[in-house]
Amino acid sequence: MQSTPNPDLLSPFSEALTKFAYQGFQQTKSLFSFAHKNISDRLTNTVIPSRQDMTSPLSPELLLKLQESRSQLCEIDWEDVQKGIYPVEVLFDSFLPDLLRYYPEMWLDLPKIWSRLQRKEYQSFADDIEKEGYPGYYLQNFHHQTDGYLSDSSANLYDLQVDILFNGIADGMRRRILTPLKEGLTTFSSVPAYQIKVLDVACGTGRTLKALRATFPKASLFGVDLSPAYLRKANQLLSENPRELPQLSHANAEDLPHPDNFFHGVSCVFLFHELPGFARQAVIEECFRVTKPGGTFVICDSMQLADTPEFEGMLNNFSAMFHEPYYQDYIRDKLGERLEKAGFELLETQLHFLSKYWVARKPDSTTLIQNN
Ligand SMILES: C[S@@+](CC[C@H](N)C(=O)[O-])C[C@H]1O[C@@H](n2cnc3c(N)ncnc32)[C@H](O)[C@@H]1O
Repeated sequence: MQSTPNPDLLSPFSEALTKFAYQGFQQTKSLFSFAHKNISDRLTNTVIPSRQDMTSPLSPELLLKLQESRSQLCEIDWEDVQKGIYPVEVLFDSFLPDLLRYYPEMWLDLPKIWSRLQRKEYQSFADDIEKEGYPGYYLQNFHHQTDGYLSDSSANLYDLQVDILFNGIADGMRRRILTPLKEGLTTFSSVPAYQIKVLDVACGTGRTLKALRATFPKASLFGVDLSPAYLRKANQLLSENPRELPQLSHANAEDLPHPDNFFHGVSCVFLFHELPGFARQAVIEECFRVTKPGGTFVICDSMQLADTPEFEGMLNNFSAMFHEPYYQDYIRDKLGERLEKAGFELLETQLHFLSKYWVARKPDSTTLIQNN
């Protein structure tokens, strides 16, 4: 792919300064996340001592390896800015206003989580939450989230919680979908930029759509999610950008409300580990249906056991500590085979820090006709 150098970074001095600032920003977020997790884990273990027996400690070698792969991710993120794949300001995108406004709420939520943990309640929702019409697998307090994905307060806390969980680099992990997507869209270089259509499946609070908007300023963007509250939050976030708003739909990714062969690109971030196997296949098949021949589908989700057996203890800790009922099945699932079963051609997989990426292409019409 031809990439143009980022005009914001032309002077070597400003480039060095910006890189230094980015490293400092990431370091601060990492330290903050570490301190938060340390204190909240200690508190939780004091209130519920049996929690300590559910996990195994990570070796110093493994912790070092994690630190190195986090640094590598930052480096690649920086290189992609230099290549002009996305603008430098996305590196500094933070939710400081959310942090200031909702961080105290995170602590106030902790006793509610403890009380559910003590009662072993994992499908608990406030009485006024509408639960009709959602698939059974969805009605869960995933990662012990109060009200699951179905309340505004859950949506307000989600980004902070995920970023802390991923040591301050959740957006950096999301951004890894942008390069393969941008490469894939070169297939449609004769299509005017404003006619390019990109869908983010399970868009949640809109963090990936925000990065997609920065990368594809003129494209028509679409998002789908099952949570009305998360879509409201996404709408708030995306409205801050003066460019055209993405079109958001409340829908099940197993039954997308879009026509066949509609999107040039489709992304899906952190959804598949929260689905049972049959739903993973159904979502992939729907993504195939709505992707144009020649279009690209990029998935980002948790790393899996076969790629990183040395992380088995950490992956087991994750599903033991957080309520993730489909995670053990997910980390053993062969998503590549599922993609091919749906009709996609699997181009490559990548690993970055704690995530894995699948880059797939819907064969173009001539290949489809030849294969049929
Ligand atoms: C872990 S969050 C990931 C959100 C977002 N992609 C991100 O990067 O933060 C999972 C999201 O998937 C949505 N979701 C789960 N099952 C879904 C389904 N069957 N159809 C559409 N959205 C779904 C949830 O509402 C939630 O917003």
